[in-house]
Amino acid sequence: MVQMQTAFIVGDKAEALKAATALGEESKHLLADEVVMAKMLPKAQVHKVRIATTSARMIEENVEMIKANMENVRRDTVQNAYLDIQRACMRCHNLVRDW
Ligand code: HEC
Repeated sequence: MVQMQTAFIVGDKAEALKAATALGEESKHLLADEVVMAKMLPKAQVHKVRIATTSARMIEENVEMIKANMENVRRDTVQNAYLDIQRACMRCHNLVRDW
């Protein structure tokens, strides 16, 4: 995430794409898998695994959005996708910690 943010701030598209792609892969294999995620969640939160994996899918969708729109003149499309990813991270972490 930090790598992607830095890339967006300095306007390095190639680096932002690389970071987004890596994040999408990680999210798919780790966060969006209900079996894997159920093991990572605290016992009291395991029943919320579906909500958790939805956050992960939001990450993947926004990564796709970033990949598809990187060449777009409207930079705010990809920047908003980046912010939506951050929201998805926090959504799931809040759930994990029951905030
Ligand atoms: C599907 C739910 C989910 C999503 C989405 C998610 N995380 Fe997590 N994250 C977890 C869980 C569960 C842990 C604790 C894992 C453990 O203790 O083994 C964790 C732990 C972490 C940690 C380790 C430090 C800590 O506070 O425990 C970092 C850093 C982290 N996540 C970053 C992110 C970032 C950045 C994103 C968004 C790109 C993200 N996470 C999205 C569930 C999620």
